[in-house]
Amino acid sequence: MMDTFKIKDIEIKYLSHSGFLITKGEHKILIDPYLSENPLAKIKPQDIKATDILLTHGHFDHVGDAIEIAKQNDCNITTVFELASWCERQGAKANGMPVGGKFKFPWGIIHLRQAMHASITSDGVSVGFPASILIDFGDVKIYHLGDTALINDFKLVGEIYKPDIALMPIGGKYTMDINEAVIATKWLNVSTVIPMHYDTFDVIKANPEEFKQKVEKETNAKCVILRF
Ligand code: NI
Ligand code: MN
Repeated sequence: MMDTFKIKDIEIKYLSHSGFLITKGEHKILIDPYLSENPLAKIKPQDIKATDILLTHGHFDHVGDAIEIAKQNDCNITTVFELASWCERQGAKANGMPVGGKFKFPWGIIHLRQAMHASITSDGVSVGFPASILIDFGDVKIYHLGDTALINDFKLVGEIYKPDIALMPIGGKYTMDINEAVIATKWLNVSTVIPMHYDTFDVIKANPEEFKQKVEKETNAKCVILRF
């Protein structure tokens, strides 16, 4: 099993939990880097090279080491306004926008979309709505669903934005479980789905092979399980 999925000139490396490092040329886009406190993560925050950091919401298992990595790489954190302001108060550079907003980068556009969940930082600050993130490279669209329940917006995203790849939570308890993730994959109509947010803690144990079997039977998507 690989830890990296390649599509065209884009590499998607899984860091365990909801963490990914997406590389396109000189651009290294880091999402939800929960590393130093994460029992499954192999890579240390100080070994990460990033040019942009994206955060879905304020929970500790998503913000993770983002502040330290942003400082050490002198890069921006892009996320929901309230969380971006919190990151700035921790001394990091940040861009904020509302859920529903878009932000243009040299490498593409991101859309912050809905997630049905909560968003509070480890020090108890409520930081606005949680988000999912659609990353549009032009020829490839990757949709990181963040932490979320099954919501109708996935039908809209599938119909209007047509993502190619979904990074899909399957662990249950705090997010969709395997059966809900199969429905979300069907609605998004992606060609590739990569499971995430499972096995990190006992309460989110899930079998990615079971997800693969169900999702490949019930949708057109190919399931790629990335090693971490
Ligand atoms: Ni969360
Ligand atoms: Mn989470």
